[in-house]
Amino acid sequence: MITTTGLRKVYHSRGRETAALDGVDLHVREGEVYGVLGRSGAGKSTLIRCVNMLERPTSGTVEVDGQDLTALAGRGRRSRAELRAARSRIGMVFQHFNLLSSRTVQGNVELPLEILGVTGQERARKARELLDLVGLTDKAKAYPAQLSGGQKQRVGIARALAGDPKVLLSDEATSALDPETTRSILQLLRDLGRHLGLTVLLITHEMDVVKAVCDSAALMKAGRIVESGTVTELLATPGSELAQELFPVGGEPSGEGRTVVDLTFHGEAATEPVISRLSRTYNVEVSILGAAIETFGGRQVGRMRIELPGRFEENVVPIGFLREQGPQVDVADVAADARKELVK
Ligand SMILES: Nc1ncnc2c1ncn2[C@@H]1O[C@H](COP(=O)(O)OP(=O)(O)OP(=O)(O)O)[C@@H](O)[C@H]1O
Ligand SMILES: [Mg+2]
Repeated sequence: MITTTGLRKVYHSRGRETAALDGVDLHVREGEVYGVLGRSGAGKSTLIRCVNMLERPTSGTVEVDGQDLTALAGRGRRSRAELRAARSRIGMVFQHFNLLSSRTVQGNVELPLEILGVTGQERARKARELLDLVGLTDKAKAYPAQLSGGQKQRVGIARALAGDPKVLLSDEATSALDPETTRSILQLLRDLGRHLGLTVLLITHEMDVVKAVCDSAALMKAGRIVESGTVTELLATPGSELAQELFPVGGEPSGEGRTVVDLTFHGEAATEPVISRLSRTYNVEVSILGAAIETFGGRQVGRMRIELPGRFEENVVPIGFLREQGPQVDVADVAADARKELVK
């Protein structure tokens, strides 16, 4: 539904060049909720602003719903009209709501419809329908100043839906809200996505957001996507930073000269037998430092951090055995130095 290819955006300011996007290939499938994560300055907002052409990319292409938006930008009146039409089918939700304080809630939702030239009666009907969808029917005549943060964001979402978009973009829509309101807004975005068949691309700083609503996620660093995939794929990727943050397994080693191993089990695979088999086969004492089970996209994932006596070199065979038993096996960083020595 959204594809960017080799997307670059270079800013020039005070004689300096900043590559805010440095070759971004993003692919968001129809109907999914896709989260983009990354530190401040990684290029997340620039990416989303390029997807709806609020920002013109320096090079590369942006395709939304099969239409190449980059080809339409700035190529005569007809193309510009087509670009406007294409952009009206991309809804945008902002961090600071961007509501007009002089207009009522209903007036704010009607605004994009006015711009699209929808007649008064039809506008009012549509706005009320959208307010109903976001649970604000009784606030239609209120002014933004009379609303809570969560209610304001609901207005922002209703407004974003006014043009019957196929794609909803959201740049930190919940970062100004408290955790509980954040949850309810996210739930709303996800439910609307399912109900209206929307594709949602959202930017966030918070892993909890990804856990709660995203089907897929990408991690950006310095203008590039360094990891991406469905949440389940990410969890199955050895050494994935996103997986580690999505689902951290805690537990410090009990002392020097031990090997810490993280095991990830997907689906119903039982964890206990693997550990007891390991312990029996090699006559080693396995300590469990931490363990947890979570559900992602309806699938159970279990993670366990275990400790084996002895350094990595002494545990190569048991680790090989664990691998054969099925779980994903990552030797934790604690043993990284030992591993490096072994490779030398
Ligand atoms: N209009 C601009 N002019 C010059 N540089 C810009 C402009 N907009 C963004 N940048 C630079 O591009 C880089 C990426 O900025 P961007 O706003 O996309 O980051 P972000 O990931 O959204 O960060 P945050 O999490 O803080 O919102 C930064 O180095 C920023 O300083
Ligand atoms: Mg930003």
